[in-house]
Amino acid sequence: MKKVYLDNGSTSFPKAPGVGEAMCDFITNVGCNVSRGGYETAYNLEETIFETRTLLCEMFNFFSEKYVVFTPTITYSLNFVIKGLLKEGDHVIISSMEHNAVARPAISLAQKGVEVTVVPCNEDGTLDMEAFNMAFQDNTKLVAMTHASNVSGTVLDAESVGKICKEKGVFFALDAAQSAGVIDIDFEKLNLSALCITGHKGLLGPQGIGAILMTKEFADSLEPVISGGTGSASHLLTMPDFMPDKFEAGTLNLPGIIGLNTALKYVKSKGKMIFETEKALAQKFIDGIDEIEGVKIVGTRDWSKRVGTVSLDFANVDNAQVAFRLDSEYGIMTRCGLHCAPLAHKTLNTYPQGTVRFAFGHKNTEEEVFYAINAIKEILATE
Ligand SMILES: Cc1ncc(COP(=O)(O)O)c(C=O)c1O
Repeated sequence: MKKVYLDNGSTSFPKAPGVGEAMCDFITNVGCNVSRGGYETAYNLEETIFETRTLLCEMFNFFSEKYVVFTPTITYSLNFVIKGLLKEGDHVIISSMEHNAVARPAISLAQKGVEVTVVPCNEDGTLDMEAFNMAFQDNTKLVAMTHASNVSGTVLDAESVGKICKEKGVFFALDAAQSAGVIDIDFEKLNLSALCITGHKGLLGPQGIGAILMTKEFADSLEPVISGGTGSASHLLTMPDFMPDKFEAGTLNLPGIIGLNTALKYVKSKGKMIFETEKALAQKFIDGIDEIEGVKIVGTRDWSKRVGTVSLDFANVDNAQVAFRLDSEYGIMTRCGLHCAPLAHKTLNTYPQGTVRFAFGHKNTEEEVFYAINAIKEILATE
């Protein structure tokens, strides 16, 4: 059976050209560690790791490679940021569109005396700015917020949030899992304190590699959540206080960084084409779905406030049944349910049933979009 991959919100596929080959070459022909071996191959590898930090700096208009910290993925990035910063008596603001990668670490701190406010969003997933403004308290230390929703694709207004955080002297951490590589993210313009990313979604790299880009002030305020060997200052029994070693304990995912390096060069070379392609495909899909009765498209239609992820809620058929038949009868891979984002589904009025998510990538084709629309029509006709 034909296979159509429409689950790019979960992880992108295919990856950027050359990612697998670069990783395989590293494992097969290089293989050594960094910061630990005093020989040429290790020094060369060090340069590639540094180049990857530079590529991230260039992509996100960030000031210094030293303040780029590699992590095993954005879930770790967000845990490092939220749990490393907040102490008893602090207050954190999150939105009601968060993935559990933000919501769970924040809520887990509530048991340790951290106050958590979940700011409501509108039914299309956009931020309620009035409610957001009112959420600040004297002890507010951090706003941690998703940039683009993994459920509806809605983009939250990070620029306005960044301005307010700057005025109020509050740190601002952005979860860019669904936006990095797809829409422009300018660290300076958004007034970010920390940008959290993952390599395996819009950046088209491998799984298991993420990063945090953080300001000096933020790094100075952050405790390392993980301690261990760094290959530096080995005489100390505490973590080094210099960057990025302060937050990079343990051997880094070197094949992951090599793969990400290749992916970043590809994404950079494609520029806005990636978003424009995904937008065109998603819009064709939305147009086709609009003609079908009994299907709700959740989120906003405004392309200045969304990315190419489209979630559908079927009125008269179980969403899980639609997803199951799409896969088993048409080979169309989607993701159904709550997408690790129960808060977002409550906001979008799709809780507890969830939605069927169609997340387009720039390698999908118009033909695949029409195939998916027809498959949905046929499934609904036979339920
Ligand atoms: C908005 C958002 N944040 C965080 C994550 C977690 O990403 P990872 O599983 O790579 O840590 C996801 C994954 O779907 C996401 O969509």
